[in-house]
Amino acid sequence: MIKLVLISGSLRRGSLNSAALRAVRRIIEDMPVDVEVVSLPIGRIPFYDGDVEEAGMTAAVEAARALVADADALVISTPSYNGAVSGVLKNALDWLSRPYGASPLTDKAVAVLSASPGGRGAVDAQPALLTVLRTCGAFVVEHPPVAIGQADQRLDRHGEMTDPEILDALRGLVGATLTAATRPARGGGRRSPLSERLRTVSV
Ligand SMILES: Cc1cc2nc3c(=O)[nH]c(=O)nc-3n(C[C@H](O)[C@H](O)[C@H](O)COP(=O)(O)O)c2cc1C
Repeated sequence: MIKLVLISGSLRRGSLNSAALRAVRRIIEDMPVDVEVVSLPIGRIPFYDGDVEEAGMTAAVEAARALVADADALVISTPSYNGAVSGVLKNALDWLSRPYGASPLTDKAVAVLSASPGGRGAVDAQPALLTVLRTCGAFVVEHPPVAIGQADQRLDRHGEMTDPEILDALRGLVGATLTAATRPARGGGRRSPLSERLRTVSV
């Protein structure tokens, strides 16, 4: 069985990103594949604090770590807050990146999408998210960018994303995610040094 964890970067009850992930869940549930889909709520994860980490991770962080460690892949949907990911999402990823060298994100297949009421569908937040994920050593799922624009106008009367064009894009993303989740060779090893992962040249 493939285990998939969904993370919405928005805490809002009427979140468009959470609606997009509910559509992802329905697409998977309609597929003839054995996939368990779990949502990871990030609202209860405390602000990252190195002292808290040193004293032993809190229950909310431990639960998030365990869920991600057990997953074959993640799907993250992010809003754009001033051109980057939301603070809560960055905070959750910062916790999940710890401890250095034993992050559950290492080699984890992660697919990314975004949604907003604006025309660009929060696509401007995706580079920031990809940078964080790559820095954490995650395996970013390759697929054409999925950025759902004017998402607030594309919900049905139940607040669900049922627009065929959106569902088509999400089906592509789900297919790429499941392929990545079952890819044969996971790096498995230690994360490469930060300098290698970022390919920076220090002068
Ligand atoms: C602090 C803040 C910053 C925002 N910055 C942007 C932005 O840069 N670009 C954009 O398209 N929308 C921006 N928005 C609007 C969000 O796209 C909108 O609130 C969206 O619905 C958030 O995603 P959600 O529906 O999943 O909660 C911002 C909203 C907030 C609260």
